[in-house]
Formats: sequence, structure tokens, C-alpha cells
Amino acid sequence: MKTTPHILVTGGTGYIGSHTVVELLIENYEVTIVDNLSRSNANVLDSITAITGKTPNFVQLDLCNADAVTTFFNAYSTPFDAIIHFAAYKAVGESVQEPLLYYHNNVVSMINLLQAANTNGCNKIVFSSSCTVYGQSASLPVTELTPRLTAESPYGNTKQICEDILRDTVNATNIQCISLRYFNPIGAHSSALMGELPLGVPNNLVPFITQTAIGKRASLSIFGNDYNTIDGTCVRDYIHVMDLAQAHIKAVEVLLATNQAHHYDIINIGTGVGSSVLQAVNAFEKAANLKLNYSYSPRRSGDVEAMYANVDKAKAVLNFSSQYSLEDALLHQWQWEQALQRNG
Ligand code: UD1
Repeated sequence: MKTTPHILVTGGTGYIGSHTVVELLIENYEVTIVDNLSRSNANVLDSITAITGKTPNFVQLDLCNADAVTTFFNAYSTPFDAIIHFAAYKAVGESVQEPLLYYHNNVVSMINLLQAANTNGCNKIVFSSSCTVYGQSASLPVTELTPRLTAESPYGNTKQICEDILRDTVNATNIQCISLRYFNPIGAHSSALMGELPLGVPNNLVPFITQTAIGKRASLSIFGNDYNTIDGTCVRDYIHVMDLAQAHIKAVEVLLATNQAHHYDIINIGTGVGSSVLQAVNAFEKAANLKLNYSYSPRRSGDVEAMYANVDKAKAVLNFSSQYSLEDALLHQWQWEQALQRNG
């Protein structure tokens, strides 16, 4: 009889990875995490255990080290049933400063992973892609058929390149893959035991909001109020990280159930609702019941005016739709920020 499916989660101690591991464990999957801990902390494993009562297997491994990846896979006599590949760098600005670091880390690691997975008969992969591959689309909401535009950053380009490598690999091998194009992940686990740990000054909106509210930052700068949107500020599709975690479970289920050769699919994962920066700030003030210090600053270079998902395919193929509201996500991230402060 088939035992519990065993899922390899690369980057499983990172922000989205750790929340997905929690959902996998709750749904009784066996989980092995590999992570090089370069941008995350092994303490996350304790939080996962505190939430789920279970401890995932953990191996510290740098996927850029091909020999180490081969040795790792060879140690398992039974192949993993599926891989969820999160491990990657994700700071847009840093990728502009350090393009080679990004191309090397994000692309080489995935090539090593695919080679070892293919050799070892592990042929189902869920890949973390991003809505950044669409650039500023002329029509909204974006569907999976909306053409990709030239990437605005090396980070975005690594997502496009990795998607292309996966498509070509699926064509040529037994590997099956679903690329999930995430919109803007925000929020934290509702227990406040787990959330994002931004390194240094956050680039992303919501950690900047919560750090301002707690007093770590003096004031939020809203980048641009002269966009052609409802209130002049940029529009994004903010999705709760626990919803995103659920989407990965659904994608794994679909892959485990399919025997179709050369199965490659791309699916948007968002809420389908666009919210402006100002709407997000107002929703935060309401959820946290406080006033936020903010002011308007010039546009940030590289920002697209508006982006939100058509989520029909996620519903049709994965039977996935988001459950949490923007307020839920902001409240959970605020509770996480407060827990971080309490714990020093
Ligand atoms: C970016 C990436 C996306 C990536 C995400 C998380 C692009 C186009 N998008 O999303 O692929 O998944 O980061 O790493 O590369 N804002 C402020 N003040 C701030 C910070 C942000 O006004 O201090 C505004 C931004 O101008 C933007 C919105 O808030 O309009 C969201 O910004 P951010 O959280 O950085 O995400 P994106 O840039 O949309």
C-alpha cells in the first residue's frame, strides 16, 4: 500500500516555504526541507513544530552545489513524490545591483535540482513564479495567456528564465510541472508564531507598514500618488500567505493525480482583487485600530501602475480560491510584528 506522499520543499524555512510546510504537515504529508539558511533562520523549524506538533525533516543544503545535490538525492532509495521549489533570492533592488548573484543563485540551483530529480525518478515539481513576469500589462486583470513582457529586473528575468527551463525540461523528460505565478504575498500565520523576517529595511509595502506602526520606522513613504488609478496610488493583488500555501497543496494534489506525459501548466495565484496602496494603508489602520504615519514620495523606479490577477484558471484547475480578506492578512502581519517585538 502506498504510504504518505513525501514532499521535498526547497527554501522551506523562507517566508512562503515555511507557511506551506505547515499546511503540508497539517494535511499529513511527509515533508523534507532543504535550505541553505542564507536568508532564513533555522528557528523557523521550532515555529513549525509549535504550530503543527510535527517536525519536518531538515537538511541544510546549497542547491548551487551540484555534487551536494546529487549526494542528497542519492541518499533516498524511494524518490520524493513531489518537489515544491521555493529556494531563490527575491529582492528586486538587490538583483539590479547584483545581477550575477541572482542569475547564479536562482538559475543554477534550479538546474541542479532538475538534473538530480530527473536522474532519481522524482518527476513532479511545483515552481514559485511571480506576476512580475507580466510587467505592466496593457489589459487587466492578467490571465495566464497575457503575454510576458521583458523583465524589469534581473530577479524578474530569473523567474522568466526558470519558467522557460521548466517548460523545455518537461518537453524532453518525464518531469511534470506547475508554475504558480504569485501576486503580492502578505500576512503571517494566525498564531503569530510565524511570518516574514525581512532583512534590514524592508522593500515591500506591508512589512514597512507594520514596522512603522510599531515604531521601528518613522514614517511610510507612499511611492507616487499620480498614477492613473482610483486614488493615484499603485494597485496590487495582495494575497494572504496561508492562501498561497493552500494553493501549493492543491497544485501538489493535481500533479500527484496526473499521469499525463509532458504536463506543464502555469497558474496565477492571487485574489482577483486589486487594492491601491492607500486602500491597503486604510485597511491596516482599520484592522490594527491605529493611525499610521505616512506621506507621499515620488514614484519608485520600476514600479508598475496596476496589477491584479484573473483567477479563473486557479479555480478551474486547482479548485483554489483565496479565503482571507486583505484586513485578515494585514491584522495577522501586525500580530506577527507585535510578537517579534515582544520576543525581542
Ligand atoms: C515586488 C515584485 C514581486 C515580488 C514582490 C515581493 C515587481 C514588479 N514586483 O512586488 O515580483 O514578488 O516584490 O518581493 O518586481 N510601496 C510604497 N512604499 C513602500 C514600499 C512599497 O508605496 O515603502 C508601494 C510600491 O510602490 C507598490 C506597492 O507598495 O506600489 C507594493 O510594493 P511591494 O510590496 O514592494 O511589492 P511589488 O513591488 O508590487
